[in-house]
Amino acid sequence: MKLKHIAQATLAAAGLMLVPLSAMATEVEVLHYWTSGGEAKSAAELKKLMEAKGVSWKDFAVAGGGGENAMTALKARVIAGSAPTAAQIKGPSIQEWGKEGVLANIDAAAKDGKWDASLPKVVSDVMKYKGHYVAVPVNVHRVNWLWVNPEVLKKAGATAPTNFDEFFVAADKIKKAGLIAIAHGGQPWQDATVFESVVLGTGGAAFYQKALVQLDSASLNSPTMIKAFDTLAKIKTYIDKDAAGRDWNLATAMVINGKAGMQFMGDWAKGEFSAAGKQPGKDYLCLPAPGTEKAFTFNIDSLAMFNVKGADQQKAQLTLANAVMSPEFQEVFNLNKGSIPARAGVSRAKFDSCALKSMDDMDATSKSGGLVPSMAHGMAIDSAKAGAIQDVVARFMNSTMTSQAAVQALVKAVKAK
Ligand code: GAL
Repeated sequence: MKLKHIAQATLAAAGLMLVPLSAMATEVEVLHYWTSGGEAKSAAELKKLMEAKGVSWKDFAVAGGGGENAMTALKARVIAGSAPTAAQIKGPSIQEWGKEGVLANIDAAAKDGKWDASLPKVVSDVMKYKGHYVAVPVNVHRVNWLWVNPEVLKKAGATAPTNFDEFFVAADKIKKAGLIAIAHGGQPWQDATVFESVVLGTGGAAFYQKALVQLDSASLNSPTMIKAFDTLAKIKTYIDKDAAGRDWNLATAMVINGKAGMQFMGDWAKGEFSAAGKQPGKDYLCLPAPGTEKAFTFNIDSLAMFNVKGADQQKAQLTLANAVMSPEFQEVFNLNKGSIPARAGVSRAKFDSCALKSMDDMDATSKSGGLVPSMAHGMAIDSAKAGAIQDVVARFMNSTMTSQAAVQALVKAVKAK
């Protein structure tokens, strides 16, 4: 036995733990990437709630939309043996972390709070590793939205589009009026966000499910997929030349201030409109991405809990988990974040028309088969495969690659992983 282990064993036997002094206080450290205006307001609500419960909040915010930077920071901390109390991790990645043996069992909180009864099974299944809760859901984001500035449409003499033909008619008019038709940030995760909505709008939910969830090679290698890339190529021509590297919230700001007409983005964009004091239906429109009215790509944010040392820290962790699942939190957080509550039993009264549409559409699509997991936001497939698809799409967006070549690259990338 190594010296350190003997010392640890002795202290543990004496009921003591090798916990750094700073961590002795009741504190939770939470890693997240909620750093834009609307997101920071949402995260601040959780901090407030924890402090009201006597638990201090150590913020571990890592900027970078889609969370790639945050995941890199998390890996470094876990490898160094100093995982945070909780981290914003979702979908199949929760299983990947579970396999590493670093996640905490929070069944005690789930039992107390009757989570099984308040969560749809599709949600609770994702929060469990080998049948035990290891994560808590924060919200449900819908990804297949198009955010539109109606003033820009009016100036351009354009109308709100419902399918891609109408979309390109509107885009042409906006361009002719001297404005930017599509606000976009050239970052791989944003490219993938547009791509999945285009695949959904081109092939429908059943095709999306086969191609981007089951990774069926006949669907990946199909005329429908070629058509989707053709549409994506056309979309590229309406994006301004300064888009490379632009953050998603800056692209949303272009729609908010009327510099651009439309943006493909999940409803965290609504958090930016709300933070700017804008009203849906009046200052902006939330439309299903062209051709996707009958489908819903879901993206569930969740906090996965890591093994922490000491009874105090474990208690604080369960307090955090319970707070996140409370109806008060799910209401206030989601009012700011643009998403909808993940749990049942939250009043709809304060939610706006976009959120109500999201709630109703989620319900309807869960019955019709139109409810599908977002590939671009880590809900559908493991992170290596999602990364491989993202790379192909980013290459397509930044080169003159043909749709045929993109489809071939897609099939190859998925097989290689
Ligand atoms: C998503 C995440 C959202 C939001 C967005 C931009 O993947 O689920 O909560 O943070 O990225 O970073």
